[in-house]
Amino acid sequence: MRIIKAKDYKEMSRQGANIISAQVIMKPDCVLGLATGSSPEGIYAQLVEWYNKEDIDFSEVTTVNLDEYKGLNKENDQSYYYFMHKHLFDKVNINPDNTYLPNGIAEDPDAECVRYEKLIRSFGGADLQLLGIGRNGHIGFNEPSDSFDKAVHCVDLLESTIDANKRFFASADDVPKQAYSMGIGTILSAKKILLVASGEEKAEAVRASVCGPITPEVPGSILQLHPDVTLVADEAALSKMPK
Ligand code: F6R
Repeated sequence: MRIIKAKDYKEMSRQGANIISAQVIMKPDCVLGLATGSSPEGIYAQLVEWYNKEDIDFSEVTTVNLDEYKGLNKENDQSYYYFMHKHLFDKVNINPDNTYLPNGIAEDPDAECVRYEKLIRSFGGADLQLLGIGRNGHIGFNEPSDSFDKAVHCVDLLESTIDANKRFFASADDVPKQAYSMGIGTILSAKKILLVASGEEKAEAVRASVCGPITPEVPGSILQLHPDVTLVADEAALSKMPK
């Protein structure tokens, strides 16, 4: 794993955006696996800035998002569909028909999981998958458990994740209790992975994922088995790494 140390969130965002931008320049019709949440927000803002300066062109890019809350429709401002449009898709020249997320209101959840997994596999996996990491080490919504879920699946969110995400909702009761998520196998099918982390609260998850034993108790630890992972993290997120 390559580790790039950034001073703070802003620098992490610029470094992360650099890697995505390089991917798009090298392969304009690439498939980007994308994430939501606080970690990638600055990256998307930076990419939009470069797009406005005509330094990056998304016209041939395809995107597949990691996850989506179950039960939220596209108009819901907490859906990941809404997040992606607000922070990136509506601000650059990407073709909306080439942007994919799980359908949060699919009638048949099992069929939705199969559909989304097949879609990603039909692209041969993402060329570059962007990941944030949860305080408990989750990637996508693969929560700590006793086994790794391989394919796209529907997850029961842990209390700790609901608690971490309630800041975006009126109350913890409003946070959906389930979500669709790429599985660990889906994530690992990406040719390259870019993991970003910022802040002290991620330091333990980063340490356990990078240096700890590979275990489904720390889903991020599986990234040690992928041949091309770059971690871009700020000093606070790297503060528990061995010196
Ligand atoms: C988001 C996702 C999650 C987040 C993680 C960190 O699409 O899959 O795994 O990356 O919960 O969230 P933030 O960045 O908000 O701290």
